[in-house]
Amino acid sequence: MNRRSLLAGVGGLFAAGGVASVLAPAAAADPATRPDRDGRVEALLGKMTLEEKLGQLQLVGTEDLARTSLATGQLGGVFSVVGAAKLNALQKIAVEQTRLRIPLIFGLDVIHGYTTNFPIPLAQGASFDPGVAAADATVAAKEARRSGIHWTYAPMMDVTHEPRWGRIAEGYGEDPYLASKMAVAKVRGYQGDDYSSPDRLAACAKHFVAYGGAEGGRDYNTVDVSLQRLHNLYLPPFKASVEAGVATVMASFNTISGVPAHGNGYVLHDVLKGAYGFRGFVVSDYTGIEELILHGLAGDGADAAAAALPAGVDMEMVSTNYVRYGKQLLAERRITRDQIDDAVRRILLVKFKLGLFERPYVDESGEVKAPSPAALPASRQAAGRCMVLLKNDGPVLPLAKSVRSVAVVGPLGAATYDLNGTWAGLGTGAWTTPPVTVVDGIKAAAPGATVTFTAGCAVEGADTSGFAAAQQAARAADVTVVVVGETAAMSGEAAARSNIDLPGVQQQLVAAIKDTGKPFVVVLVNGRPLTIPYLHDNAPAILEAWAPGVQGGHAIADVLFGVVNPSGKLPVSFPRAVGQIPIYYNHENTGRPADPANKYTSKYLDLESGPLYEFGHGLSYTTFRVDGLRLSATRMPARGGRIEVSARVTNTGARAGDEVVQLYLRDPVASIVQPVRRLRGFQRVTLAAGASKTVSFTLTPEDVGFYDNAAKFRVEPGKIEVYVGTSSAATLTASFTVT
Ligand code: BGC
Repeated sequence: MNRRSLLAGVGGLFAAGGVASVLAPAAAADPATRPDRDGRVEALLGKMTLEEKLGQLQLVGTEDLARTSLATGQLGGVFSVVGAAKLNALQKIAVEQTRLRIPLIFGLDVIHGYTTNFPIPLAQGASFDPGVAAADATVAAKEARRSGIHWTYAPMMDVTHEPRWGRIAEGYGEDPYLASKMAVAKVRGYQGDDYSSPDRLAACAKHFVAYGGAEGGRDYNTVDVSLQRLHNLYLPPFKASVEAGVATVMASFNTISGVPAHGNGYVLHDVLKGAYGFRGFVVSDYTGIEELILHGLAGDGADAAAAALPAGVDMEMVSTNYVRYGKQLLAERRITRDQIDDAVRRILLVKFKLGLFERPYVDESGEVKAPSPAALPASRQAAGRCMVLLKNDGPVLPLAKSVRSVAVVGPLGAATYDLNGTWAGLGTGAWTTPPVTVVDGIKAAAPGATVTFTAGCAVEGADTSGFAAAQQAARAADVTVVVVGETAAMSGEAAARSNIDLPGVQQQLVAAIKDTGKPFVVVLVNGRPLTIPYLHDNAPAILEAWAPGVQGGHAIADVLFGVVNPSGKLPVSFPRAVGQIPIYYNHENTGRPADPANKYTSKYLDLESGPLYEFGHGLSYTTFRVDGLRLSATRMPARGGRIEVSARVTNTGARAGDEVVQLYLRDPVASIVQPVRRLRGFQRVTLAAGASKTVSFTLTPEDVGFYDNAAKFRVEPGKIEVYVGTSSAATLTASFTVT
């Protein structure tokens, strides 16, 4: 079946050329695009043969394949090859032995660190601090670029409602506004103002798009999504990243309402390159073009290439259908010369912006092979800002520095690389720098204390034979820190779990420690929300540490001993049970909202409604009060309107701390049913004990509008409710009217 007939079959809004006209106007031209660069691109394009053009569209993932492709002059870039000398050697072939001397672009998954691992992106979402994402990206860009890498496959910005999906660890959780802010900070951190700098990388917004909607949370799975949800939920971080000048975008593995992203002209051509005005290039995901065959969109490789190129995929990762069939497809008029030229032009433009034509090689003496003394504290500080204190009865935390003995128990108490989580840095040196363990972090924080470690059990498996020793250690100590959760391999790509309880017998281990009657706290190390009602009911304190990175043990000890007052907030709801999924704070209302007193409402017979811990939840060692909510006006004109919302936040406790003041909106009556709440502002404030601060947020029509099912952005007249507080359950409220 050819491309044309496929699209006819798909029809409607997801076909190429669909509804671009009703979308928001194209973003302003990329300010970094200088006319001289465009001129150089055109001049070079004019000299290229068809084979050379198709070669620029090819990206391979091994040194051997790179050499083979270079021998025919058909290679645009290489990824997943690490080491300055190796990269320079490949570049030398491209620059000295190919006819037009076009440099290669070198890509790598630099996700939360190259050599210095920062906390995983989901953890960074919990910081509600774009500065954390910027710090990670700035450090990683410098380390990677100085080691010869030009281009990172990050940030991942897939909004998701699926804790079963392992890749939830790679993004910023369930909220499109939070994800947009974090993604933009990360793009800026990688790219700076000018990514030709020797300390910067070209970024890649991925995965385009709606990958987080995978049915059942199973990786790579089908996504069927309404246009309004596509535009309101999944697309905003990508739109924001394009506006921030992201250099490249990666297509996603999923289908979108029947059309795989790699062949989806609506999302790539119409929305991304059309409505958003994206001028960079789109790279396929790993064999994503070839996979159009198994998806059932293409009969063979030629068909796959004929679907992907016109849809808007410019560079092919791993599979080789563009170079193989490009010439044939052009002769058969299934693709056009303009489509090829457009793809080549986009790739060359990024290579020019990277400065590769001027400086194709990296200085091998500057290669970064170990975390620098400045990078380690940055990672530790970031990890401290990401941890979420879920519960603290008593309070048991913080621990006194004068504590005489601490028993560290649990299979992750002495874990090293698991603290890095998924997509740990691939740079030379990243794997020879094991993270600081929790037990070592505690030893360093409480040098006067006796600190023991007893695993008790493994992360997985049914063996409880170590429980007795763990109980003995707990009985002998003043306090026990139980470190449980997931290994790094349990989240990330192809790491879906159907059950998101604590794996193995770890919950029983916690029960065994509880049975000793001695004080204890639970530290969670994991890459996704877990179902932990048992811990909530039985553990006096729970600290969500996520996968905290290379300084993990120190960062956890900082929080346990109160050197850092915890301030993270959940970027994703924690379900009570897996059967509640999808559960997310920004859901639509039903005609029968859950009511425990009324059977005929939207709920489960066997489970309390609502999440165990809501989006935005997170405790501190101090307490805060938010009051004094004020709006600068009661009416907001739909065109050009603006309202300032302010509130006072007071530290009502006895120690300094950070609070994240969160602003949510609700549109109670609209032509598309609106979420019961949606985040439209947050601010992290640091307050001394007793101190107050007024925080203010500016709302404009963009904050109250939404996309409808024709992908048209609408700002409708009527009442808007405002909620301000310290989680998505905020109760302080006021309202205004859009006119
Ligand atoms: C992942 C991408 C990644 C690529 C290259 C794929 O399997 O989906 O996120 O960037 O591999 O390593």
